[in-house]
Amino acid sequence: MQNIKIFAHRGSKGTHPENTIAAFQKAAETGADGIEFDVHLSADGELIIIHDETLDRTTSLTGYVKDHSAKELKTGDAGVKFSKEFLGERIPFLSEVFDWAKGNGLLMNIELKTDKLAYEGIEQKVIDAIRHHEMDQRVILSSFNHQSIEKVKLLAPDLERALLFEGLPENLEQILRDKQESGFHPDQNNLTEAASQIAKTLGYKIRPWVANDGGDILKLAGMGVDVIMTDFPEKALKALKDWQANG
Ligand code: G3P
Ligand code: CA
Repeated sequence: MQNIKIFAHRGSKGTHPENTIAAFQKAAETGADGIEFDVHLSADGELIIIHDETLDRTTSLTGYVKDHSAKELKTGDAGVKFSKEFLGERIPFLSEVFDWAKGNGLLMNIELKTDKLAYEGIEQKVIDAIRHHEMDQRVILSSFNHQSIEKVKLLAPDLERALLFEGLPENLEQILRDKQESGFHPDQNNLTEAASQIAKTLGYKIRPWVANDGGDILKLAGMGVDVIMTDFPEKALKALKDWQANG
């Protein structure tokens, strides 16, 4: 039987405020295999878990993450904009996520959000945090900025890395061949049977994002992907279970 894993995208983003401990905890409770989350740097160099470069959409604060100190970011609410029920949910720091993760065995796909802002030195800081918390075997570092992934490869060749793609380039095969990474993270809407065969042949793990629809989940399962990232881990796990029971 194919072992397809479910990763909760920004945590259980469909049911809980994205990139919060509440969303990660929900993912753990549903039986997801892993979580995906995004990392940025505060003004004073702390690793902050949030999707956007700015705070406005998901928190009670405004402006760029990079312009706020860690102390200021600690005052932000990352739950109430999703629902009043989550009032008081904080913007997590990477160290807090790692502390929380010590209570479970979830894998963690850490996306380095260096595609819009450079965040000088973020790669080394993330690696230091992984080492400090002994999370080496539980993380996959990914980025749309493939130079960031190259930096990780130089700084910590033993850590698992993955290339994120928005759309697929015509020379995908060449890129995957040249980069010699281990993870291929395409937008699920762009993933074709041909692209998945190329990645598989080159030994890549295929972890498409983000499939919420039952039909999409089954299509990806049929292609033999390794992980499906979803906003609704509970639903995705059920869809996969039903599919496997009928297969
Ligand atoms: O890592 C996969 C996916 O999270 C990339 O897109 O915009 O949700 O960070 P985004
Ligand atoms: Ca992400």
